[in-house]
Amino acid sequence: MTDSSNKTLQGKVAIITGGASGIGEATAHLFAQHGARMVVIADIQGQLGHQVATSIGIDKCQYVHCDVSDEDQVKNMVESTVQKHGQLDIMFSNAGTASSSDQTILELDLSGFDKVIGTNARGMALCVKHAARVMVERRVKGSIICTGSIAASQGRNLFTDYCMSKHAVLGLVRAASMQLGQHRIRVNCVSPSVVATPMSCGAYGMDAEQVKKISESTSTLKGAVLKVGDVANAVLFLASDDSGFVTGLDLKVDGGT
Ligand SMILES: NC(=O)c1ccc[n+]([C@@H]2O[C@H](COP(=O)([O-])OP(=O)(O)OC[C@H]3O[C@@H](n4cnc5c(N)ncnc54)[C@H](O)[C@@H]3O)[C@@H](O)[C@H]2O)c1
Repeated sequence: MTDSSNKTLQGKVAIITGGASGIGEATAHLFAQHGARMVVIADIQGQLGHQVATSIGIDKCQYVHCDVSDEDQVKNMVESTVQKHGQLDIMFSNAGTASSSDQTILELDLSGFDKVIGTNARGMALCVKHAARVMVERRVKGSIICTGSIAASQGRNLFTDYCMSKHAVLGLVRAASMQLGQHRIRVNCVSPSVVATPMSCGAYGMDAEQVKKISESTSTLKGAVLKVGDVANAVLFLASDDSGFVTGLDLKVDGGT
C-alpha cells in the first residue's frame, strides 16, 4: 500500500465509475486516504454504493446512480459533480461487465454482446467524452484513467465480446490521449490480469479462492496473487501528478503474465 501520509491527491475531485465494488471500491478508499476532497462513486448498485460512501465518510464520498451506457445519465452525473463540488480533476472510468456466457465466436449471442459492448466500450467512451468536455471547458489539466484488461492486447479462447470491448478501450485511450494532449489532459489505461471480484468470480463460475489460484498460476512472480489494492495503487499513480508526463500508456498490472 502506498504511504497514505503522502497526500498526492490533496483537494482533488474524482469520479469513479463502478466504484460500488471490487477495483473501483478499493480505489475510492485509496483516493480518499490520499487527500481527495470528494470521490463520486457512479454505479448501478445503489445499496453497495451508499455503503462504500458511508464507510469512507459522506463528507468525502458521494454515491450517484448512473448507468454508464446511457449518455444522458453520464452527462448529468459529470455536470452535477462539477456543479456540486466546483471542479473535476480525475475520471476513473472503470465500470465493466463480463460476458453472459462463453461467447465463443461460433455461439456468439448478440444480446449478450450488445450489453458487454454497451457498458465496456460505449460506456467508457461516454465517460471519457463528458469528463474531457468539462475539463477542457474549465481548463483543468485533468487525468482520465480507463480500466482495460490484459484481454485488451491478447486473444481469448472464450469471452469474444469482452475481449473485443477491452481492445476498444485501448483504442479509445490511444486516440483520446493524442486529441486531449493539447489541453494538458492525460489519458491512460490500467490493465489488470485476474483479480478476485464479484465480476471475475461470476465470469469464471468460481469462488474467490479459486480465482486467486488462477492469478497465482498465471503470474511469473512466484507465489504472488493480484489484489484489488495493487490495481488501485497503479490507478493512484496515474491519477496523481507523480505521473505528470505519462499519457497514452497501457499500464499492465499482471505480474508478468
Ligand atoms: N476482476 C478482474 O479479474 C478484472 C481483470 C481485468 C479487468 N477488469 C475490469 O475491472 C473493472 C472493474 O471490475 P471488477 O473486477 O472490480 O468487478 P466488480 O463486479 O467488483 O465491479 C464492477 C462494478 O461496475 C458496475 N457496473 C456494471 N455495469 C455498470 C453500468 N452499466 N453502469 C455503471 N456501473 C456499472 C457494477 O455494478 C460493479 O459495481 C471492469 O472494467 C473489468 O472489466 C477486471
